[in-house]
Amino acid sequence: MRLNLGCGNHKVDGWLNVDKVPACNPDQIVDLEALPWPWPADSVDEIVLSHVLEHLGAANDVYLGIFKELYRVSRNGMRITIIVPHPRHDHFLNDPTHVRPITEIGLLMFSQTANRYWIAAGGADTPLGIYLGIDFETVSVQRRLGEPWSGRFERGEITSADLDYAASTYNNVIQQTEIVLRAIKPAGSKNNT
Ligand SMILES: C[S@@+](CC[C@H](N)C(=O)[O-])C[C@H]1O[C@@H](n2cnc3c(N)ncnc32)[C@H](O)[C@@H]1O
Repeated sequence: MRLNLGCGNHKVDGWLNVDKVPACNPDQIVDLEALPWPWPADSVDEIVLSHVLEHLGAANDVYLGIFKELYRVSRNGMRITIIVPHPRHDHFLNDPTHVRPITEIGLLMFSQTANRYWIAAGGADTPLGIYLGIDFETVSVQRRLGEPWSGRFERGEITSADLDYAASTYNNVIQQTEIVLRAIKPAGSKNNT
């Protein structure tokens, strides 16, 4: 089973397209903030959350509960593709239903490898993966640049280092980020692949 969560009007053939709003005619109506989710443990082969996660879990307990559910339903090694607007882009700021910024570092907090590294380094970061008993490693991060930054970079007018500086300093540099996570489940978990 492959889940397209918060599908809206972008359905994917062969996937279970899920949304809480009947008006977009999802295959299954589910409020993703109502926990637990209706799918069995270790039953899902792939998940996409495209422009959805930033709408979920204004309350921390709900947001963290959603990650526990993502982990519970995942088969070992399963990939989750998360596409989000960059928190310093107007696309994020303009929508009143966006309840929290999603960043690649924020998602890395669900990696037990990162948690152990930060603990060994004496960092103060909350080891969320260890605390929640979940483990997602980051497979890839892709950034889509906004204009005029995209054009300037393509024309060779600015370097990657210039872009890194701009992205951490100004608004509207990165438009959206696509982050792929992989669920790491212990040996003995059902359906290990
Ligand atoms: C910005 S749209 C993105 C739609 C689609 N994924 C896309 O990329 O075009 C966000 C979608 O998430 C859905 N959504 C928001 N909160 C939800 C929830 N608690 N449970 C299920 N779906 C939710 C909305 O109904 C909406 O269809």
